[in-house]
Amino acid sequence: MSTPTANGTRVAIIAGCRTPFAKASTVYRDLTAVDLARVAVRELVERTEVEPAWIDTVVMGQVIPSVNAPNLAREVVLGTAMPPGIPAHTVNRACASANQAIAEVAEAILLGHAQVGVAGGAESLSDVPVLHSKRMTQILMEASRARSLGDRLRAFAKVRPRDLAPQAPAIAEPSTGLTMGQSAEKMAKENRITREEQDQIAYLSHRKAAAATDEGRLAAEICTVMVPPRYEPAVTQDNLIRRDTSLEALAALPPVFDKKYGTVTAGNSSPLTDGAAAVLLMSEARARAEGYEPLAFVKSWAVAAVDPGGQLLMGPALAIPKALQRAGVTLDDIDLIEMHEAFAAQVASNIQALESETWGRDKLGRSKPVGKVDRSKLNVNGGSIAIGHPFGATGARVTTTLANEMKRRDARLGLVSVCAQGGLGFAMVLER
Ligand SMILES: CC(C)(COP(=O)(O)OP(=O)(O)OC[C@H]1O[C@@H](n2cnc3c(N)ncnc32)[C@H](O)[C@@H]1OP(=O)(O)O)[C@@H](O)C(=O)NCCC(=O)NCCS
Repeated sequence: MSTPTANGTRVAIIAGCRTPFAKASTVYRDLTAVDLARVAVRELVERTEVEPAWIDTVVMGQVIPSVNAPNLAREVVLGTAMPPGIPAHTVNRACASANQAIAEVAEAILLGHAQVGVAGGAESLSDVPVLHSKRMTQILMEASRARSLGDRLRAFAKVRPRDLAPQAPAIAEPSTGLTMGQSAEKMAKENRITREEQDQIAYLSHRKAAAATDEGRLAAEICTVMVPPRYEPAVTQDNLIRRDTSLEALAALPPVFDKKYGTVTAGNSSPLTDGAAAVLLMSEARARAEGYEPLAFVKSWAVAAVDPGGQLLMGPALAIPKALQRAGVTLDDIDLIEMHEAFAAQVASNIQALESETWGRDKLGRSKPVGKVDRSKLNVNGGSIAIGHPFGATGARVTTTLANEMKRRDARLGLVSVCAQGGLGFAMVLER
């Protein structure tokens, strides 16, 4: 039960490429998301030797866009060696934005509207737009409309010290006001996820990411970033992976989002991250015609949503069964799982739901749980807690990591899942 294209072939994942992921305000502090996205896409095009003129569409994800360059994807086309005639657009499905970009390119291929496409995303949390208050904006608008110096001075005379306070975008749920961290804390409490379980997930994330770096598995998906103006030292590795972390060090960290009774810490949360990632997709027929050996094929995908007023980050536990059903497979059939780690509490809560009879019955109308999550198949190269989570890019990172690992092991089926703001969840099944 593969997903065929309009002309009878499938959507092939040819390759993926990403920048090293870096803690926000460190090595990429002077770059924008557009700069990072251009590096990842340029390198993807060079490594795969795809003719830029073959590319029919570029779709990128970004969650906190720049006010000056809101269509990141188009800036990527115009800033790389791509013909300016390639249409490009930017999507926002919160942390699943790059997954959405991949799905949109896949849709274009399935419809026969494209044969070759680039999908990915980028985020720079070092370069978020900092806003004025509503009142300050009104004063500035009034001053800009002033016809005389006197009118302009009268407008500025209304400025009070509190109007000067800048407003950075909050990583919070607009409908509830809770930050993502507070929402993870709520999930940990309601699902009785212990601090030990969360720290264990974080520990394994770092251990596996460190091993995958040392053994070249993560290095294979990474390109070097030269940061102007000095262009040295080159950025060649993720800088958030802590090879020295221990369960003791993690246990010693104070809770961040509920300082008194909480269990969510800087250690068991994904960190604020800068980075970009991109994937090259082709119709199977075009890939074969051009002599490419696909890493994997898109078998199915699904999105789902929960009420943000409940448990915000449970979307994957709804999207996963939907994507599995569309693929005509079960969780047991899956050889490898890449589950985005926003917070260890979210990973544990989603696994708990997938394995729970109550969740299966109440949320999915099934007589049985979705299935057992085999921990030996889960995030085998580490996850977003260790590697980092540039919101707009993560979906392309997890898809690339999974497709590469499926090729290494010659695995038949792989599953990606990502939770996102707004109670959204995304899942995709890949096959070889
Ligand atoms: C949790 C969060 C607030 C922490 O931010 P921060 O305080 O800047 O984090 P830091 O990296 O400075 O870590 C804080 C401390 O924990 C320590 N630490 C973090 N991870 C550690 C680990 N694995 N092992 C040992 N120590 C660790 C750091 O060394 C630091 O110690 P210090 O204060 O002595 O320097 C921030 O990462 C965050 O907001 N994350 C969530 C992002 C989010 O909401 N994403 C959306 C997902 S849907």
